Amino acid sequence: MVITHLSLTNFRNYGRLELALPPGPTLLHGDNAQGKTNLLEAIYYLATTRSPHADTDSQLINWDAQQTDDPVIVGRLVAQIETERDSRLLEMRLIQEKSRQLRNGRTSFRREALVDKRKVRLMDLLGNLRVVLFLPEDVQLITGPPNNRRKYLNITLCQIDPIYCRTLSAYNKVLEQRNALLRQLAEGAGSREMLVIFTEKLVSLGSQIFARRAVFLADLAREAQRIHYEELTMGGETIRLQYAPRLEEAAAKQNRQTADLTAAGEWLQSHHENVAQIETRFAAALEQATATEIARGMTIVGPHRDDWSFLLNGRYLSSFGSRGQQRSAILALKLAEINWMKQQTGETPVLLLDEVVAEFDEQRRSALLNTVSQAEQAILTATDPGMFTGEFLRQSAHMLVRNGQIQMEQTPA
Ligand SMILES: Nc1ncnc2c1ncn2[C@@H]1O[C@H](COP(=O)(O)OP(=O)(O)OP(=O)(O)O)[C@@H](O)[C@H]1O
Ligand SMILES: [Mg+2]
Repeated sequence: MVITHLSLTNFRNYGRLELALPPGPTLLHGDNAQGKTNLLEAIYYLATTRSPHADTDSQLINWDAQQTDDPVIVGRLVAQIETERDSRLLEMRLIQEKSRQLRNGRTSFRREALVDKRKVRLMDLLGNLRVVLFLPEDVQLITGPPNNRRKYLNITLCQIDPIYCRTLSAYNKVLEQRNALLRQLAEGAGSREMLVIFTEKLVSLGSQIFARRAVFLADLAREAQRIHYEELTMGGETIRLQYAPRLEEAAAKQNRQTADLTAAGEWLQSHHENVAQIETRFAAALEQATATEIARGMTIVGPHRDDWSFLLNGRYLSSFGSRGQQRSAILALKLAEINWMKQQTGETPVLLLDEVVAEFDEQRRSALLNTVSQAEQAILTATDPGMFTGEFLRQSAHMLVRNGQIQMEQTPA
């Protein structure tokens, strides 16, 4: 799939942008702080309804627009998408209303999504534009907290599997209700019958999430391992991707916990087709954890506490890998993600690469650029286009970003 046109209004440092995008690779270059990352963020936001950077979505609205006296400020992102089968127009609106009732200039903020000019739920925007984003800070997927890794699973899966996304959203709602009830029970209030009901719902929804993640991670692991071995390290190093589902209460000792959870991961991967069995095991784990859960006022078993990790030659990459080895694993993961999406949907996602090419040695760079050249559309940012090969520069379209404006340039001969 390709984005043929993008328009932005009051998004980050883009006051107003109308941009025609060609298929194939596009090199977006410009000095620091001109809007390269912001452009990729806009596209990613339309695909996933999430920002990889902002803590709150209201940060995405252009600051100058926020300074005006207008009672309503709207940030708009619109993209025309073409696939082999059809075309569609996606739109996201970020609406900030300065409510006069509230003191301290507090504002209300909401979002709207539209497909072909018809309003849809935010969730229904997902899957219309599929992207793979590659950022320098992605290495935190390995070194950072488990929350990063769960977010990665969810965002990637939601782009191709609407059922997963709906299940996840329902699960999170039940989880919230169940946690509130656990806190009440801790204080001697609340109803035990309600706990049974919430637990049943949690088990049914959570088991589907466990099963889907198990299959996804197994698929991704296989492909990432192949790419890492064959294309990045030429048979030198083997990575493995291990699922550590929270399908039981964590044991006290850190190392035991890891071993237990990965055993559960292997079990899930071989039982993913039998959701009834997963339900039984999940329900038993919750049953066993009930006393602790009431004491702590929160649900401690379930996919909301899942994790996964990389192993390199049998050792945890987060603790033992060099920076370069960690980056290579992320590269393998991203390349695997691209192939996986292609295989699941029959189309290549749009690739978004923010300043990542410079990080790699020649072997890895050429593997990456090889995938980029074969993609239907890829947008790469760079402060210095000089690091790309002449051949790659000749293949790609060139655009210069300066202070929230983008100019098409001649491709070098
Ligand atoms: N809501 C906003 N309104 C206006 N400007 C913003 C907003 N949020 C961020 N900016 C500014 O947008 C500018 C461009 O940011 P961006 O991250 O896209 O730069 P970049 O071209 O990727 O630079 P670098 O090469 O340093 O990565 C920055 O100066 C940033 O402060
Ligand atoms: Mg940047």
